[in-house]
Amino acid sequence: MTMTTTFETVVIAGATGNLGYPIAEAFLNDGSYKIKILRQKPESKNEKAELLASKGAEIVYVDYTQKDDLVKVLKGTDVVVNTLNPSKMGDGFFSTQLSFLEAAKEVGVKRFIPSEFGCDYTPDNVHPLIEAKLKFQKELEKSGLEYTFIYTGVFHSYLHYFGFDIENKTALFYVDGNSKIAITSLADIGKYTVESLKLPEARNATIRVAGSTVTFNELLQMLEKATDSKWKVTEDREVRHRYRNKIEPIPSIVDDFKAFICENGEFSKLDNDKFSFTPRSLAECINTIVKKA
Ligand SMILES: NC(=O)c1ccc[n+]([C@@H]2O[C@H](COP(=O)([O-])OP(=O)(O)OC[C@H]3O[C@@H](n4cnc5c(N)ncnc54)[C@H](OP(=O)(O)O)[C@@H]3O)[C@@H](O)[C@H]2O)c1
Repeated sequence: MTMTTTFETVVIAGATGNLGYPIAEAFLNDGSYKIKILRQKPESKNEKAELLASKGAEIVYVDYTQKDDLVKVLKGTDVVVNTLNPSKMGDGFFSTQLSFLEAAKEVGVKRFIPSEFGCDYTPDNVHPLIEAKLKFQKELEKSGLEYTFIYTGVFHSYLHYFGFDIENKTALFYVDGNSKIAITSLADIGKYTVESLKLPEARNATIRVAGSTVTFNELLQMLEKATDSKWKVTEDREVRHRYRNKIEPIPSIVDDFKAFICENGEFSKLDNDKFSFTPRSLAECINTIVKKA
């Protein structure tokens, strides 16, 4: 029988962020863990941090560039969940995760969940904007620490980033409308992250989960239904080609990244069946997003 390690104290870095907050909430809702939230120094007021503190999380400020600071705050930690954002931190993203890893090794952290939470990629098919994630995976695998890479597809709340503009009822397709994309709600990502700690199959493994997998055409139809209007659709399927070959109008690297995600948005295999819950339905999530827009 495979034994699972038991975990008590979970440290979450980036818990005031888009993803970190629902992950922290899911851990607090679960109720079985002591939760510590790391925030970047200097101290600042933050509503989400206050909410998490009111639900029982301990807030600790840290200088991410100082390994000694990290060693101090990670003492007694069983699990590190990193939800820092490469697009906000640039080169600091890799170096910070590495400092975390070194500190985690020093104090005997049992499980490290790095900031992944995106689509599938491989060394042969990776975008420059997420190369630092892959580079860190290699370091983590070498480190001897237990790890889980969690891939979730696109966040529901990020549909605008991938071409769906609810306010203006427009959609921009970077790929054929029949291509598929995996989408997951942030609340479910929180639950998957918590439950991964109880799953023997998640030890030293990549876990791929999705709330739904749909075609871009199906997504469009659902958004049209939820907004009760016909959307204007445009296509730009040459973004990656123009970016690579510097053909005018040259897309930005961010546009190239969006097109990369849309091209690689479907998982070949999912681990949903290993988890105890059913994720929220796409229709329900879309209705929530439309109401908020
Ligand atoms: N699959 C998708 O659709 C999708 C979409 C978006 C993001 N992601 C991924 O999800 C992960 C988290 O992204 P996110 O959007 O949730 O992150 P985010 O909201 O931009 O930021 C996370 C937190 O990082 C902390 N932080 C620490 N040092 C920082 C610095 N130097 N600059 C900026 N913030 C700093 C901030 O909290 P404090 O100030 O409290 O320390 C911030 O709230 C990343 O791996 C990202 O690639 C995936």
